[in-house]
Amino acid sequence: MKRIFATIGMLALLSWAGHSQNRLLVDASAEGPEISKYLYGHFAEHLGRCIYDGIWVGPGSAVPNVNGYRKDVLEALKALNMPVLRWPGGCFADTYHWKDGIGPRDRRPRIKNVFWGGTVEDNSFGTHEFLDLCELLGCDAYISANVGSGTVEEMVDWIEYMISDDDIEMANLRRQNGRDKPWNVRFIGIGNESWGCGGNMTPEYYADKMKQYGSYVREYARDKMVRVGCGANGEDYNWTRVLMDKAARNMEALSVHYYTIAGPGWNNKTAATGFGEELYFSGLKKGLRMEELVTLHSQVMDQFDPRKRVGLYVDEWGIWTDVEPGTNPGFLFQQNSIRDALIAATTLDIFNRHADRVKMANIAQTVNVLQAMILTRDDKMVLTPTYHVFNMYKVHAGGTLLPVSFLSEKYSLGNESLPAVSQTVSRDASGKLNVSLSNIHASKAMKVLLELSGKTVARVTGGTLLTAPAFNSVNTFENPSLVSPVPFRDARIVSPAVLEVTLPPRSVVTFGLE
Ligand code: AHR
Repeated sequence: MKRIFATIGMLALLSWAGHSQNRLLVDASAEGPEISKYLYGHFAEHLGRCIYDGIWVGPGSAVPNVNGYRKDVLEALKALNMPVLRWPGGCFADTYHWKDGIGPRDRRPRIKNVFWGGTVEDNSFGTHEFLDLCELLGCDAYISANVGSGTVEEMVDWIEYMISDDDIEMANLRRQNGRDKPWNVRFIGIGNESWGCGGNMTPEYYADKMKQYGSYVREYARDKMVRVGCGANGEDYNWTRVLMDKAARNMEALSVHYYTIAGPGWNNKTAATGFGEELYFSGLKKGLRMEELVTLHSQVMDQFDPRKRVGLYVDEWGIWTDVEPGTNPGFLFQQNSIRDALIAATTLDIFNRHADRVKMANIAQTVNVLQAMILTRDDKMVLTPTYHVFNMYKVHAGGTLLPVSFLSEKYSLGNESLPAVSQTVSRDASGKLNVSLSNIHASKAMKVLLELSGKTVARVTGGTLLTAPAFNSVNTFENPSLVSPVPFRDARIVSPAVLEVTLPPRSVVTFGLE
């Protein structure tokens, strides 16, 4: 049935190809893979002002807070229905000794954060503060264990401290520190970037480490925890191959990290603001490379795991630009524009399309670092354009991905072209369809003809549009709502199974079909 739909769809699309219009055929009754809610995950590291200032100000702060967590940020994050939060790093994780972060806060040791600005970390945000935060947010916890400079013993002590309900030393230590019942900790990462800041290991050496650490997670956590192997740096497919070959049986997921650099390279990432159309285009183009990366890593995984038991987790992704002028270069504080929101939307579309293998993704990072959801200054907060995309896309979490045939016009600049329109169509548990469409063209509106089979439509619901006056517009503390969602009314029902949708330039829209 699926193949027939694809063939008819392709023929219909080819006959349309001469027309300059975007055409989306959706098989509304088909059964695609479930879009894991964890694709909409987040990441918070002890880096710059992400944890301290961004999330945690401490109970004595003048900034309004709930037990030390910023009230404004907490409320904004709750609204996103965050499914999972990864912590404490990043590179920081492989220097983190969790016992530094428990017990009375004024007696916790002070350490140097060697990776991020050399600042003094007072450990006032530790295991209790993180896991209580996850409970407040109603999200799953994803702990990155220290493999680079830690031990197996340290990791299993941490596991027992967090999840054991027995009358044993570590669980009793937790009780002494004020928490009687264990927390629910679903995910554990075995090291972070072990090919780089996490110990500069070869894949063969790391595969042995993974097996060793993974064995003891299994013994101590049984099936309560998902073991995430540290994955490749971008296109390092050999890393994935070696890990799948040697250690697939000792993990439930393997990660990969990929950052979008709009500029020529790591030494010239270019600014987050004030850029011209070339950098707008190249940022989007480099973001779209995620398609190739997840396709090729998935192909390698398929060779060893055709049943797709091991999930691919893109547990760090997003655009990485130069820091804002005048800020600490080690703090990675950058602005966030409509370009970045479009990178988020097109990347989430890619993850959704690969929902059969990609089971988690964590954008870097939650507050004040890299492609953040939120920027803070003193007691003020700004929601970034990327925040709004996550808020719009949450309707797809846990839905069924619907197969489509799709033809998009091009967005060309110089000699290069990109598909102008990107899409996700899913069906939720109630049978409602949720559609997201983005138009990355800097200056041209796009009409999309959406045709359904297997369903007719009586009404369009909850339409939301995110666009901006210019392709480099940002929200600032002075003008925090310049790039904000507004109601979208340009999805017109032409006949019960056909809609015409008009997308403004540089825009993301989401709407429901009932
Ligand atoms: O997110 C910032 C850093 O990027 C992380 O600490 C590291 O894992 C990656 O290189």
